[in-house]
Amino acid sequence: MHETILVTGATGTVGNEVIEALSSQNVRVRAGVHSIIKGDRFRVFPNVDLVEIDYARPESLRVAYTGVTRVFQITPFTQDQVEIAKRLIDMAKEVGVKQIVKLSASGADAEPGIQMGRWHREAEQYLESSGVPYTILRPTSFMQNFIAYQGASIVHEGKIYQPLGSGKVSYIDAHDIAAVAKVVLTQSNFDGEALELTGPEAISVEEVAGILSRVSGRTITYVDVPEEAARQAMSSQHLPDWMVDAMLELNQILKAGYGAHVTNTVAQITGRPARTFAEFAQNNAHCFIAE
Ligand SMILES: NC(=O)c1ccc[n+]([C@@H]2O[C@H](COP(=O)([O-])OP(=O)(O)OC[C@H]3O[C@@H](n4cnc5c(N)ncnc54)[C@H](OP(=O)(O)O)[C@@H]3O)[C@@H](O)[C@H]2O)c1
Repeated sequence: MHETILVTGATGTVGNEVIEALSSQNVRVRAGVHSIIKGDRFRVFPNVDLVEIDYARPESLRVAYTGVTRVFQITPFTQDQVEIAKRLIDMAKEVGVKQIVKLSASGADAEPGIQMGRWHREAEQYLESSGVPYTILRPTSFMQNFIAYQGASIVHEGKIYQPLGSGKVSYIDAHDIAAVAKVVLTQSNFDGEALELTGPEAISVEEVAGILSRVSGRTITYVDVPEEAARQAMSSQHLPDWMVDAMLELNQILKAGYGAHVTNTVAQITGRPARTFAEFAQNNAHCFIAE
């Protein structure tokens, strides 16, 4: 039977890369997009169809899931992410999906862990007891965060504001998460596994600033922000309290060095080394230079 793989959150950081990775495979791909117009860029891929999914409209899920054989499940960073995850798992089970690959987060199984991890762990446990064959991907912080969240201050001020001290993090390129996802979705021999995915090295934000300075030809400096100032900055951007608390908690453990572990899983599964931050920066240099 021909495989049809649904990717939820397809226009996000990881989803976008997963669609691209699957576009060269002999499978049908359904890009689950929040609104069809946002998925326009996927129309260049002959094996990719667009399907609208709005988690706030559960009836949209049935249309999206019907006929699907495998799912790459990405849930957004929202307060109801666990409910969304459970709803997606229920729908996959109902239509008889034979594999769910869930995007989780590094440290989701830590006890007591942090709130972000506990949300993912609750969804993981629901998946584990669902009866649907599954694989869990647990990546560390994405290199792309330096574009999505720090990009504006890097471009306009030459500064990276982060409350991370000299904490080192084994940042991963979302491209590598997608490369792993492609293998797991098309070879399906990782049933029941939880894969800890990291970049090839742990680096500090100071080192990130040095790399970005080199590739952009500008001086980019790291401003180590006190936690209280970080809280105020996020609150002034009208981020809700639950989100600010969760972000600060994550930053505390990264500052303390808990995000520095390195695994070889990307290389083992894809057959090539995980990308370094320098490679990521080179590939995305245009994102760090003012136009
Ligand atoms: N960032 C990190 O460093 C990191 C590290 C480890 C794990 N993670 C995990 O990665 C996941 C997020 O992945 P990501 O960064 O690739 O996502 P993302 O870039 O934030 O994108 C989220 C996607 O979900 C879609 N979406 C949001 N609300 C929706 C709704 N109501 N209905 C349908 N679609 C909706 C968005 O579409 P629209 O834009 O159109 O709304 C977008 O395509 C989270 O579970 C997070 O915990 C992140």
